Amino acid sequence: MRIQIINGPNLNLLGVREPEIYGQQSFEDYFGKLTAQYPDIQFSYFQSNIEGELINKMQEVGFDFDGIVLNAGAYTHTSVALQDCIRSLKTPVIEVHISNVATREGFRQQSLIAPACKGIIAGFGLDSYRLAVESFQK
Ligand code: DQA
Repeated sequence: MRIQIINGPNLNLLGVREPEIYGQQSFEDYFGKLTAQYPDIQFSYFQSNIEGELINKMQEVGFDFDGIVLNAGAYTHTSVALQDCIRSLKTPVIEVHISNVATREGFRQQSLIAPACKGIIAGFGLDSYRLAVESFQK
């Protein structure tokens, strides 16, 4: 099974950025531990702060891979282009968030990508990514 994890803007700063919300761990550190737990899954990881690069990556893998785990960061709440992209793919996309966006500012409570995604996992810290991976095992 091939799973692509994609992180959007500012998620390259995990561990440094607002640690009271997003935790103290870098994504690279977490990713190493995650992949070790699933030796039979082939993982790829991509991060970009640029909306079009996220779209390019999803179009690249979205017809061959078995799953995409997407934390689109703030583009979650703004990007019609990401929603259109997700709708165009064959590969199912799970929307993930580290924080529980439903309990935060009003603008974070709307997701423009959710209607195109297979499901949403939010609020479990970095474990949200593992829960998304688990869902592809079913
Ligand atoms: C986030 C939540 C978004 O609202 C925010 O813009 C992020 C991170 C999360 O993982 O909790 O960058 O996607």
